[in-house]
Amino acid sequence: MQDQAVARGLVAAYHAMEFDAVGINALDLAAGLDFLLEITADRQPPVWLSADLIHQELDEAPFPSGIILDKGDSKIGVIALTGSLPPAMMEDEVGPSAPTGTSGLALLPWRQVLPELVARFSPESDLLVLLSGLEAADNEAIAAEFPEVHLIIVAGRNTEANLHPRRHNNTVITAVGRQGKRVGLMEITWTRDRIWFDQELAQLEEKRQELDRLNWQWRSLQRSLQWVEEERSPGGSEPPAAETESQKIYRQRMAAYQDELQQEIEALQKAVAELEQVAGRRQAGSFNNLFFNLDHNFPEDAEMLQMVATINQEINEIGRGQAAVRRQNQEERETSPYLGWTACAQCHQPQTANWQQSRHAQAYETLEQRQRQYDPACISCHVTGTYEDDESLALSLPAPLRGVGCEVCHGPGRQHVAGRDQAGAATALTRRPPAETCRRCHTVDQSPDFNYLEAMNYLEELCRPTP
Ligand code: HEC
Ligand code: HEC
Ligand code: HEC
Ligand code: HEC
Repeated sequence: MQDQAVARGLVAAYHAMEFDAVGINALDLAAGLDFLLEITADRQPPVWLSADLIHQELDEAPFPSGIILDKGDSKIGVIALTGSLPPAMMEDEVGPSAPTGTSGLALLPWRQVLPELVARFSPESDLLVLLSGLEAADNEAIAAEFPEVHLIIVAGRNTEANLHPRRHNNTVITAVGRQGKRVGLMEITWTRDRIWFDQELAQLEEKRQELDRLNWQWRSLQRSLQWVEEERSPGGSEPPAAETESQKIYRQRMAAYQDELQQEIEALQKAVAELEQVAGRRQAGSFNNLFFNLDHNFPEDAEMLQMVATINQEINEIGRGQAAVRRQNQEERETSPYLGWTACAQCHQPQTANWQQSRHAQAYETLEQRQRQYDPACISCHVTGTYEDDESLALSLPAPLRGVGCEVCHGPGRQHVAGRDQAGAATALTRRPPAETCRRCHTVDQSPDFNYLEAMNYLEELCRPTP
């Protein structure tokens, strides 16, 4: 249900931002195909694209596979491959080659789709862009096999952060992160030759520069020889002084060197002329790319803020409803491996007192202050325990499990506490949490400045027992 609220909001936002085209990826399908069709039906632009998504029973594509955009004098072809379905739809997979979705949705392999797609769109487009939901290895294979695809923009994979564009063969590949924390600005200088790079053109450029350098050397030699000559003939009616032995040697050496240079220059001129025949009129394209952080330097857009506030409110309301239903189930509480910080307090008093002063203890309040505590997109990193299979459980936790509690770092404590009661010795918990424990939440997007060792020093201080 939250998925639908998000999807509806995204479609409205794309519309408001006047996107030309959107490549459909697994995230867009999270609330189902019918829903996506419904909310995109009367919203054009943007045009929603996917070349590999098909309806199994109908044996037809629910979305167009590409479009040609007229931009000034240029035609930009945009095609899209969805690449993967949401996990829920992959569950009743019949076989690795033919994943069937619950709603009759299936994905065709890109190798089956792309040749025809490129053949159809490439001749008409000056620049051909592929919006891809495929994995890195597949995108690189496409770059190797389809030089006609000039730009691949990857989205919807679990790419945590943006990927700066890089050229592979005649294709530039770039990827956008999932969190929408940055704006990418890519400036492309494109030419009718439709190439990013050309071996011969690069050689020509190199040889031209070498030629310039040698010509300059030749001329400077010429000047020094003239100076020597001028020194011997001060002008007026006086006859030139006789050449000394050392002047003579110098003059001969310089002249010989000049001849050598002359030969090299002629050889280079020939090479340049030959290359000019081949590549002289070719022009390679180039690009510049910047990612800007969407921080306070970016002015807020009132319409967009309103839209986001509305979606958040809707999501929070749905989550609140789910949590209320969930809270009635007491049994879940009693079997959870997580006890909450109050269960540790009696035996680890100093650690508890310190922890209560830390931001980890406040993490749930942080969400409450922003009215986001019922948002599944936020809750997982602001509470104690992992609830990947069942997000609504995370939304309905009792107070001692709200916030980033002891068991986030030391592991579930039920055994530890119970073991103590029975045998007198505590079942061991993790004493020193490894970096992966922290990075589950301190991701590049959420915590860009996170430094494990520094943060651990601080925590050691917090968890050190007072003597
Ligand atoms: C009934 C008392 C008691 C409770 C309740 C209790 N502990 Fe302990 N805990 C101990 C004792 C005693 C030790 C020392 C164990 C030892 O040295 O054998 C210990 C050790 C630890 C250690 C260090 C482990 C190590 O290998 O050095 C951690 C971490 C820890 N507890 C965390 C917790 C957490 C988290 C909770 C709450 C879920 C908790 N404890 C609840 C008594 C308790
Ligand atoms: C379950 C998610 C989660 C895990 C795991 C986690 N953190 Fe955090 N951490 C947070 C959140 C959320 C905040 C910010 C809370 C707030 O300000 O409301 C935070 C804040 C912090 C801060 C700032 C503390 C302060 O009081 O100023 C430090 C330092 C930190 N974490 C270190 C770590 C380290 C080191 C680990 C691993 C041992 C770790 N965290 C594991 C979620 C997590
Ligand atoms: C992947 C884990 C993760 C998710 C998901 C997450 N957070 Fe956090 N959040 C963190 C961590 C880690 C910190 C501490 C960051 C730091 O200080 O470096 C934090 C800090 C914060 C803070 C306090 C610091 C600040 O930037 O003012 C707020 C507010 C916050 N999160 C809100 C949210 C909201 C709202 C959502 C959902 C849209 C969310 N978080 C989702 C991990 C997460
Ligand atoms: C964000 C991670 C984090 C959280 C949350 C956290 N701890 Fe710790 N804890 C640590 C680290 C790091 C150490 C130091 C490990 C070491 O000594 O190498 C530690 C050490 C301990 C120790 C062993 C102390 C000793 O030296 O004997 C105990 C006991 C403990 N913590 C209990 C707790 C309790 C109880 C809570 C909750 C009130 C808690 N911790 C919350 C990270 C955490």
